[in-house]
Amino acid sequence: MRLLKQLFDSNRAWAAEILGRDPEFFSKLTRQQSPQYLWIGCADSRVPANEIVNLLPGELFVHRNVANVVVHSDLNCLSVLQYAVDVLKVRHVIVCGHYGCGGVQAAMRDSRYGLIDNWLRHVQDVMQEHQKQIASLDGETKRFDRLCELNVIEQVLNVCRTTIVQDAWARGAPLAVHGWIYAISDGLLRDLSVCVTGPGEIAAAYERAVKG
Ligand code: CO
Repeated sequence: MRLLKQLFDSNRAWAAEILGRDPEFFSKLTRQQSPQYLWIGCADSRVPANEIVNLLPGELFVHRNVANVVVHSDLNCLSVLQYAVDVLKVRHVIVCGHYGCGGVQAAMRDSRYGLIDNWLRHVQDVMQEHQKQIASLDGETKRFDRLCELNVIEQVLNVCRTTIVQDAWARGAPLAVHGWIYAISDGLLRDLSVCVTGPGEIAAAYERAVKG
C-alpha cells in the first residue's frame, strides 16, 4: 500500500531496457535537455504525450491539464510556455486535444463534479462561442467531437495571443503553433490545419479551422 512496489519494479525494468539500447542514455540526459517541442495536452491517462508520438525522455516538454485549456491568467501553463519558448527555444508548440474528452463532455452536459466545474467554464465559453455550428450538427456524438476540435482551435488562438509567443515572433524566433486531436479509438493523431507561424497568420488560420 505504501510502497507501490509494482511501479518501482516496472521503473527498474524500463530503465534497464533503455540502458540496454544506449548505455549513455541517462548520463547524456543529466547534462541537458533540448526538446524541439512543447506539448500542451489533456491530463487524461489514455493520452500519454511521449508515447503517442514515440519520443524519448528529453525530446518533448509537456504541460497537461484537464481538457488542454490555455488560460491567459494561468501562471502554471504560462510559465511552462515561457520557459519552453524563451529558455529551451522550442520550435513547435502543439496543443493536442482528444476525442472522448471527459472534461469537454462535462462542460457540454453542464455536469457538476465540484471545483473542476469552474475550470471547465472555459470550455463552456468555447461552446457558447460556436453554439450555432455545434447545434447544427446531427447527434450528440458529432457535437461532442466538434466541441473537442473547436476547443483545441480556441486554445491555439490563446497560445498565439500570449505575450510570450507574440514577443518570440517579434524578435524573429522560428516558432510554429499547431492544433492536433488524438483519437483514443485508433491511437492516431489528426492535424486540425490550424498551424500558425507568425502574427499575420492568426486570423486566417483560425477562420479556416473554425469553418472545418
Ligand atoms: Co481529456
